Amino acid sequence: MNFKIGVIPGDGIGPEITAEAVKVLDAVAAGFGHTFEYEEILLGGASIDVHGVPLTDEAVETARGCDAVLMGSIGGDAATSPWYKLEPSKRPEAGLLKIRKELGLFANLRPAYLYNELKDACPIKESVIGPDGFDMIIVRELTGGLYFGDRITEEVNGVMTAVDTLSYNEKEIRRIAVRAFDIAMKRRKKVTSVDKANVLDSSRLWRKIVEEVAEDYPEVTLEHMLVDNCAMQLVHNPAQFDVVVTENMFGDILSDEASMVTGSIGMLSSASLNETKFGLYEPSHGSAPDIAGKGIANPIATILSAAMMLRYSLDLDREADAVEAAVERFLAEGNRTVDIAAGEKWLGTSAAGDMIAGMIS
Ligand code: IPM
Ligand code: MG
Repeated sequence: MNFKIGVIPGDGIGPEITAEAVKVLDAVAAGFGHTFEYEEILLGGASIDVHGVPLTDEAVETARGCDAVLMGSIGGDAATSPWYKLEPSKRPEAGLLKIRKELGLFANLRPAYLYNELKDACPIKESVIGPDGFDMIIVRELTGGLYFGDRITEEVNGVMTAVDTLSYNEKEIRRIAVRAFDIAMKRRKKVTSVDKANVLDSSRLWRKIVEEVAEDYPEVTLEHMLVDNCAMQLVHNPAQFDVVVTENMFGDILSDEASMVTGSIGMLSSASLNETKFGLYEPSHGSAPDIAGKGIANPIATILSAAMMLRYSLDLDREADAVEAAVERFLAEGNRTVDIAAGEKWLGTSAAGDMIAGMIS
């Protein structure tokens, strides 16, 4: 089959890791008889350098015309990069928020699980985690809440005051809840909905709507958890979680925490989906400007994001399985990148990509 895939190399280590994921996709195309046509899209600092803005409308249209988009990572070091001297709406992150909003990518899936092979990298003792590790997916609402509410910075009675607005309507809550329950049906059938319903009206509405949605899924167990407790539970007993659904800002924070608990943030993929099959796929980690250009970044999170893309947007399940199996074999045979090496010999970005691509079958 023929597919058009948008590729956003982005900033920092982004170009290095996306190149490896494309290598793996090329191996999939050759092995399974597909044609992948790539369209490069500029987003973030890379776009600022060329166009002066982090995402042009043309770039949005190019992305819209693709079957799916694979992204590396965007942004630079806020302390030193000239991009951060620009006003907030012109900085790299604004491009990411724009593409999410313009393409309606409201459902952000962020899996976090403990790799058996990398158990020692987990910062929490096995006696706390339990023998079976953990395997959760955070379903983060991505186009509402504080990120997209009205903002005002003004002087009120001689005092500088800034306001950010957190708003959700029931439709926005319902569609993300439905996604979370659908995913739970294919997993261990448990949903933890995270909110701050002891304080926020938006959370009380969230809870009410999630409960309504739950009625359509009698097989799924629903529990509610306050966000502060959830932050604690993630390091206390991560194995209790299956699907965690939450609003934009809470999901941003909790997904970073969850990924760190795995000890292998360089391995975690993510997907941002809209109402159709279209999605934007990117590693859970950032652009790591400190190691950019050194050829040592771990490309696995991006390669696994490409696998998610094959599965969710292109309906190529066998091909997605093949990519995941190649990554598993790569690790099982003792291959490591520097972030997960623990003193062993390790491979650079490109050598790791070559090896994984060579294991596609
Ligand atoms: C993420 C990032 C973004 C977010 C930033 C770069 C705007 O932290 O994808 O989690 O907060 O959503
Ligand atoms: Mg984040």
